[in-house]
Amino acid sequence: MDWGLKNRLSNIIKPQNNRALMLAVDHGYFLGPTEKLENPKNVIAPLLKYCDSLMVTRGVQRTSVPATTSTPMVLRVSGGSSIIGEDLSQEDITVSIQDAIRLNASALAMSIFVGSKYEYQTIVNLGKLVSEAEQYGIPVLAVTAVGKELGKDARYLSLACRVAAEQGAHIVKTYYCDNFEKVVESCPVPIIVAGGKKIPERDALQLTYNSIKGGAVGVDMGRNIWQSEHPVAMIRAVRAIVHGNLNVEQAFNLYKKLANENSKNKQKNKD
Ligand code: 5RP
Repeated sequence: MDWGLKNRLSNIIKPQNNRALMLAVDHGYFLGPTEKLENPKNVIAPLLKYCDSLMVTRGVQRTSVPATTSTPMVLRVSGGSSIIGEDLSQEDITVSIQDAIRLNASALAMSIFVGSKYEYQTIVNLGKLVSEAEQYGIPVLAVTAVGKELGKDARYLSLACRVAAEQGAHIVKTYYCDNFEKVVESCPVPIIVAGGKKIPERDALQLTYNSIKGGAVGVDMGRNIWQSEHPVAMIRAVRAIVHGNLNVEQAFNLYKKLANENSKNKQKNKD
């Protein structure tokens, strides 16, 4: 592995403990103004210092992330479909490598849709992106997309993750499932777990804990952080599991304490 590639990867997956906390705010690329992410600048500002990296589109990076940040950017470079379009799996690469370099991307992210109508296109795109990005020492994170028609069990996710790794992805983002260890065992590159739809805070902390225990390097969480009533308390609790080795009970207690302080401060400012 070239020095640049190693260096960029080590900014995302911390070498001291082989763990990663990625904050996902790229949802608008196909969902538009997702609930509570209507104004990305306001969402990102208080959370940026608590994540190891930010998963973002170029539009939001340019408009809503301060260029003075030292947080590494994981740049989503795929798109082409929207939630009201014909088929979400019809994605292409939408960002040039030159633009990714201008944006100082620490990694490029794209989705593959294994088992979908457009699986061929998205898998070939991944292979081509890896070949191009490696010329510049930029790692690629492959997202194994799931959907109504696509599975979310260990058999399907093992297949999707392995396909991504075989194409040369340096990190694979996937979903937690029963027998998650099997998915990790058969994937030769680090796995990071997506948060998924908003669930109660304690359950999202449990998901984080289980993912790490199951062998993931960390989580790439979005909605379960910024759709929480207390996003800063939530990201700090997630971080405490990923980097502080807290168990679920300890992390949930931390969340409640920070949320309580936050509510009190809000009330004080109102008075
Ligand atoms: C969408 C994505 C998101 O970044 C990913 O789903 C993580 O966000 P969340 O925790 O809200 O699921 O890749 O394709």
